[in-house]
Amino acid sequence: MLKKVAILANGGDVAGFNAVIRAIVKTAENNGVQCFGYIDGYKGLLENNYVELTTVDKASGIIYKGGSIIGSSINTNVFNYKVKNPDGTEEYKDLSEQCIQNVKEAGFDCIFALGGDGTQKSARDFSVRGLNVIGIPKTIDNDVVGTDITFGYNTAVSVATEAIDRLHTTGATHHRIMILEVMGRYAGWIALESAISGGGDVALIPEIPYDINKVVNKINGRKKRGKAFSVIVVAEGACPIGGEMVTKKTRQNGSGVDNTKLGGISEKLADDLEELTGMETRVTILGYVQRGGTPTAFDRVLSTKYGAKAMQLALEGTFNVLVVIKDGKLDYISLEDVVGRNTEIGAASGNTENSSLRKVDFNNDLVKTARSIGISLGD
Ligand code: F6P
Repeated sequence: MLKKVAILANGGDVAGFNAVIRAIVKTAENNGVQCFGYIDGYKGLLENNYVELTTVDKASGIIYKGGSIIGSSINTNVFNYKVKNPDGTEEYKDLSEQCIQNVKEAGFDCIFALGGDGTQKSARDFSVRGLNVIGIPKTIDNDVVGTDITFGYNTAVSVATEAIDRLHTTGATHHRIMILEVMGRYAGWIALESAISGGGDVALIPEIPYDINKVVNKINGRKKRGKAFSVIVVAEGACPIGGEMVTKKTRQNGSGVDNTKLGGISEKLADDLEELTGMETRVTILGYVQRGGTPTAFDRVLSTKYGAKAMQLALEGTFNVLVVIKDGKLDYISLEDVVGRNTEIGAASGNTENSSLRKVDFNNDLVKTARSIGISLGD
């Protein structure tokens, strides 16, 4: 019989975290289960820092709120965690046993892990070591394997769409090329979908290295038809044929995690396009507004479905799975299928050879739709 459960939110924040938490707590309460939340994700699990969540107090009136009421920790890999020794030296240690001990002592029958590929990798690693875990796929990047959609993604696309609308009017007024750089890490979902919803002329994504001359042709073709401006949406992970992804710096998030900080491809693209078209070009890097703030109605509903389903699975005793949407239906898959070949405990997630990330494939409807209406994908 399930008595006590705990939630942890991990990784970069997204709109919808709170809606998931609320749905888990409400479903738990309706079934006589006590709910807790670890503060700052896996960090809270390690430090044994948690609070009780009830609808009388913290977990109600939050469906519309951005961020996470229990915080979130970015890239905390407790299986390979940086610790400072008393003599000042630093080393990486596997502290997962401490976390497992904390869960056992607290008496939590299940941990709900809200997060992207890195979070789900650790969730699976904990499940191998004996904890009952249920994952819920979160990320604006929409790149978690096994699900059609992650919560937070729709809000990011909406924010990007509004930005494209605004760039259209200023671009058209001044006859400029307007470039919008969006997030998404190694996947082009946000760029592709928002280019369609915002009526962009070009969408450049990591999955399709671009030929700058094809982009120039598109812009010149528009000019010939009297459209003296163009709007380009570029994913932060996009790169030219034969080129490399542009990275800003290296994140200091420890070992066993992806420390690449992407960003800046739009500046290179702008320089190249100004030179090749002679048109004034301006860059907007959308950044963290894609993650913060109020979730869309779609994300509120998706998050609520995910939270409720996760708690129902726990009540039935189905653990070590990820809640997913498959072909439009709420479902679940094994965490083993999410990590794919990345089976080594504590190994890094992200863009490594063995990692599983769900990227845009050429047969996707979004790709076909974009091509059909003449959005250039730079190929
Ligand atoms: O994975 C979500 C995401 O927002 C990516 O789109 C982006 O590349 C990255 O996180 C930024 O990470 P950080 O919060 O460490 O700057």
